[in-house]
Amino acid sequence: MFSQLEPHPADPILGLTVKFKADSHPEKINLGPGVYQDDAGHTPILDCVKAAEQLRVDKETTKAYINSAGSSLFNDRIAALNLGDHRVIRENRVRTISTPGGTGALRIAGELIRTCKSGGTIWVSDPTWANHQGVFTAAGLTVKTYPYYDYENKCLDFTAMVEALKQVPADDAVLLHACCHNPSGMDLSQEQWQEIAELARDIGFFPVVDMAYQGFGEGLEEDAYGVRLMADTVDEMILCSSCSKNFGLYRERIGACTVIGESAATADIINSVLLPIVRVNYSMPPAHGAAIVETILGSGELTAQWHGEVKNMRDRINGMRQLLVDKLIANGVTRDFSFITAQKGMFSFLGIDREQVQRLQDEFSIYIVGSSRISIAAIAPDNVDYLAQSIAKVL
Ligand code: LMR
Repeated sequence: MFSQLEPHPADPILGLTVKFKADSHPEKINLGPGVYQDDAGHTPILDCVKAAEQLRVDKETTKAYINSAGSSLFNDRIAALNLGDHRVIRENRVRTISTPGGTGALRIAGELIRTCKSGGTIWVSDPTWANHQGVFTAAGLTVKTYPYYDYENKCLDFTAMVEALKQVPADDAVLLHACCHNPSGMDLSQEQWQEIAELARDIGFFPVVDMAYQGFGEGLEEDAYGVRLMADTVDEMILCSSCSKNFGLYRERIGACTVIGESAATADIINSVLLPIVRVNYSMPPAHGAAIVETILGSGELTAQWHGEVKNMRDRINGMRQLLVDKLIANGVTRDFSFITAQKGMFSFLGIDREQVQRLQDEFSIYIVGSSRISIAAIAPDNVDYLAQSIAKVL
């Protein structure tokens, strides 16, 4: 059975952590995966999560199955968090299922699109999260790219993006990042979202919005601006969201796939199609993370505490953006890295080449993705000097 297998290269993001763990360098830094760390380099369990978890332990009476859609309380509350008090919810056009993380949501979204349109195509930004291509290909879709980032000028290439999306055939899917674009950190402005939403409506391409970082850009409400506008503009769309980052529930694997149909009746049909897609994939989603999130979002006190904790994470990351830029200057770097402070969320593209990325790893034990994406969330006052010095040396 296995004799013809060839070894597969390590995952471009997760593989870095394996190498990092095996590295004994005392100053090693892992800027690979998008995982929040505090100033001490620790990924904490949020206090509100601990409190909600304790409440669940005290109150939970059964571990019996829920169903393929997961907890309806979680589903309703996460849809309200993502979409706000939106008319599509009041019009009963929204159906949400719990999924194993945001990745699970994307996979289910991909399979739903393939079910609607065998051999369908999804367009993703160039660049995009390294796993998008694999997830959608595995779901049976053809993946194509539209331009997004101007590598030369370190900014959004909005003109090229719009020109490319104008050519997308009606009914092809287009993946958009709701906020904190992964990997570039460059987000659409409100005006640009307006233009893209109108384009989706006029051309008829099908928007799939990936919202993995709500709260890490400008705020929980602000970061949802684009997805809510899109839901207001088009009749149908999919939203894939994740609780990994903003609730710090990475290993619990909890996210949501929210589908908006053009009517309540269509939404019911979509839901009936989603359930067997889940059934043949993993039957039912994990429940623990969903229980934590629904407990937090169902309590005014815990929600307020969570808002504060998300703000703290966001503020720390933004502080590190500025500190890194300052330290690069202090270490004699003359190249302009000020674009780092204009980017949003966990990531930034340093804009250094693959050879320099490799040197950072080989000579300095600093692990970053080959595209030169760095996770700002892993920078801390204790490692920023070493990081800036090392970057200065490879430049
Ligand atoms: C990332 O982009 O680093 C995160 O979303 C973690 C992952 O699963 O890749």
